[in-house]
This record gives sequence, C-alpha cells and structure tokens, in this order.
Amino acid sequence: MQFTVAIDGPAAAGKGTISRALAREFGFAHLDTGLLYRAVGAKGGNAVLAAQGLTPDDLARSDLRSLEAGEAASQVAAIPEVRAALTAFQREFARRDGGAVLDGRDIGTVICPLAEVKLFVTASAETRARRRWLEAGEGAASYEDVLRQVRERDARDMGRADAPLCPAEDAVILDTTEMSIPQAVDAAKASVAAKLAELQGQKHQ
Ligand code: C5P
Repeated sequence: MQFTVAIDGPAAAGKGTISRALAREFGFAHLDTGLLYRAVGAKGGNAVLAAQGLTPDDLARSDLRSLEAGEAASQVAAIPEVRAALTAFQREFARRDGGAVLDGRDIGTVICPLAEVKLFVTASAETRARRRWLEAGEGAASYEDVLRQVRERDARDMGRADAPLCPAEDAVILDTTEMSIPQAVDAAKASVAAKLAELQGQKHQ
C-alpha cells in the first residue's frame, strides 16, 4: 500500500511530535526532511555539492539539532540547486510500500502534491519560541534571542522564491497554539484515519 502523509509548517509548531506519533500509530515510515537540509548546512563548503553527495553518515551527526544547524539549514534551503538535489530521495521515500510520513516545509506543495493527507501544523511565533527555549534548557540562548531567530527563520522560509513555506490549498490547518500535545496528535490521527477509511470504502464499492 502506498499512502503519503505530508506535514508542513514553521519551526517548533509540533510537526516532529505529530509525525512520529502518526508513524507509530499507523506503522508508517517517517522522514524528517529538515535533517537533510541541516546535514547539508553542517557539512559546510559548497552546499550544492554537499546536497548531491549526502550520505547516511552525514545524517547521523549528533550536532544537527542545534539552533546553529537550523540557521545554516535555512540558508542552504533557499538555494534551488540544493532543493533539487534532495527531491528524488524524498519522493522515493514518500511512495515506499507500507505508507510514509514526511515533515518539512514544502512536502504538500512541491515534493508530494498528491499526498493522501496534507496537514499544515502551525502556532504563534511566541508559542513556538517558548517551546524551543524550554527545549534548549537553561544557559542556552535567552527567550528574546530564540524569538528573534524564530521570526528570522519564518521570514526566510516564507519569503524565499523557491518552494516558500505555505499551506497547500487542500491542506488541513492545525493551529497548536492553544492545544496540548495529545490534542494535536489526536486531531492529526483523526485526519489520517478518515482518509484511510475513505480509501477502504472505495475499494469495497
Ligand atoms: O524543520 P527544521 O527546523 O529541521 O528545518 C530546518 C530548515 O530547513 C528550515 O528552517 C527550512 O529552511 C529548511 N527546510 C526546508 N524544506 C524542508 C525542510 C526543512 O526548506 N522540507
């Protein structure tokens, strides 16, 4: 069975948590596509060559989750040739047998425009910055610094010419500002379950 769940949205909106929960619930494979861009940014040097030659070892680096790696990722992600070099891998992953969840910025709009389920997970910049700041722990950047970085990253991701961050026309918008994690996860599960039931119903008609 091929079944793709595309999850897009800005940094720290809850995409990762929701994606992992969906993968666990429905037995789908999960690809955090942000890691691809983080690995390209962390490699340094020529970003296009780095993207074309990305290896599993590059994705296993322990420093990819840092704020700096996110910043570097957002810069290389604006280069069209970098995005092009990563497209085929993501599309193949999406159509693997058994179903797949991909989370990123352009999954529902560019990588998998025919995904069976598209979710756009968002939250206010302040809420997202608070989550990132709490995650990073004491001694890391101040809340104000994190909020500034979140806003800068939003502006870059939404303003770039190639594959800007925006919801697909047919995406379900999930605003997690006022939601708990279980509430957001339940809403996402309901969307996937409804689509699976619909496809199942069509098969039996
Ligand atoms: O989701 P994450 O914070 O790991 O993504 C890091 C950066 O990679 C984003 O800010 C964005 O610029 C870029 N990205 C992208 N397209 C994706 C996933 C991530 O442009 N599908």
